[in-house]
Amino acid sequence: MLRFHTAGESHGQGLLGFLSGLPAGVPVDSAYVNRELQRRQGGYGRGGRMRIEADAAQFLSGVRHGQTVGSPIAILIENRDWENWKETLAVEENPAARAQSKPLSQPRPGHADLAGCLKFNLHDARYVLERASARETAARVALGALAKLFLRQLGMEVASHVVAVGSVKLAGESVPFGRILALRDQEIVLNCVDPETEARMKAEVDRALKGRDTVGGTFEVVAHGVPPGLGSCGQWDEKLDGQLAQAVMSIQAVKAVEIGTGIENAAAFGSKVHDEIGYSREASRFTRPSNRAGGLEGGITNGEDVVVRGYLKPISTLRQPLGSVDLETKEPVKAAYERSDVCVVPAAGVIGEAMVALVLARAFLEKFGGDSLQETRRNYDAYMQQVRNL
Ligand SMILES: Cc1cc2nc3c(=O)[nH]c(=O)nc-3n(C[C@H](O)[C@H](O)[C@H](O)COP(=O)(O)O)c2cc1C
Repeated sequence: MLRFHTAGESHGQGLLGFLSGLPAGVPVDSAYVNRELQRRQGGYGRGGRMRIEADAAQFLSGVRHGQTVGSPIAILIENRDWENWKETLAVEENPAARAQSKPLSQPRPGHADLAGCLKFNLHDARYVLERASARETAARVALGALAKLFLRQLGMEVASHVVAVGSVKLAGESVPFGRILALRDQEIVLNCVDPETEARMKAEVDRALKGRDTVGGTFEVVAHGVPPGLGSCGQWDEKLDGQLAQAVMSIQAVKAVEIGTGIENAAAFGSKVHDEIGYSREASRFTRPSNRAGGLEGGITNGEDVVVRGYLKPISTLRQPLGSVDLETKEPVKAAYERSDVCVVPAAGVIGEAMVALVLARAFLEKFGGDSLQETRRNYDAYMQQVRNL
C-alpha cells in the first residue's frame, strides 16, 4: 500500500515528505525531482518568496545508488527563508524574541486564519497559516515526482496545462497529450498550449496586479497510458474518481474538481455526452472516439486518458485587504497583508500532477502489488494479456 505524508511549515526549517510502499528497483533521478520542484516555483504572477527559495530535494532514506530499495523514503527540502524566521518561529520559548514579534491577529477572509484559530484555540494566526500555506506542496511535488518515475517505468506519463486564468479561457475541444507534454520543455509562463490565449492570460494577471488584486483559474491534469481496471465500483471509497477528486481538492485554493467534461456534461443530453465504444482488431483493444468521461466509468479507469481539472479561487491575501475583525479587540480592522502571490494556476497544475500521480501509483500497486519493480511489471504484463484476450 502506497502511503505518503508531509510535515513542515512555510517559514520553518524545511519541508519533509515521507513515502512508503514504492517497490525496490525504481530508478530515481534527483535532477528530475528538482526540476519538478522548480516547475512548482514558476509561473507568471508568483510573489517574492519564490525568488528567495531554490528548492532541492535531499534524500534521507529509501534511495541508494540511484534506485529505490523498498524501504520508506524520506525527503527534506530546506527553506532558505528560515534564516529570517528563526526568532519568530523559535522552537524553545524565548520571551524576548516573542515580545518583539507581533501576533497576526487580523484574519484574512478566504485564508485558514480564523477557522484555524478557532479550532486550535490560538490568538496568533501565524501558527495556522504556516501549515495551511501551499509551501507544504513542495514536499508533495517531490513525492509525486517519485510516483511519476514509477509510473513512467510502466508506460504512464502525467502532465498538466492551464485552461483558464480569470475570465480568459482556452477555446476548443480536448488538447492532444503530446502538446501538453511538450510544455515541460519550456519555461513556465502560464503553461497554456496556445500562445495567443497565454498572452491574454498574462494580461489578465497584469490587470489583477495593477488593481492590487488576485486572480484564480483552472488547470487540467492528464494521465496518459493508464491501463483499464484501476479503482473499483465495489465500495464508495474504492472509486478512483472519488480518490482523485479528494486529492486534487486538497490542493490549497482548489474549490472545485471536474473529471473529463463533467460540468459541461451536466447541461447536455446523454446522447451528446457518452463516449461510444468501438474495437480495434489490430491493437486488440476497445476504442473511444471521444473521452468526455475523462477515462473513468464506475470509478474504474477504462483505458482512455485520465483527465482531471482543478478550479482555483483567487488568492486570499490582498494588497487592498477586505474587512476583518481583530482577534483580540473584536474591533473592525483591515485583514493582514504579507508578501503574496497574485496568480498560482500553473503551479497548482504541477501540484495537481503530483497528486494525480500519487493516487494512480497507489491504485496501480493496490491492483498489481509487487515488492520489486520486476515483480510489479510481471503481474501487470500478465493482466494486460488477460485484457487483450477478453
Ligand atoms: C501554489 C500555491 C501558492 C499559493 N500562494 C498563496 C499566497 O501567496 N498567498 C495566499 O494568501 N494564498 C496562497 N495560496 C492559497 C492558500 O494557501 C489557501 O487559500 C489557504 O491555505 C486556505 O485554504 P483553501 O483556499 O484551500 O480553503 C496558494 C495556493 C497554491 C496552490
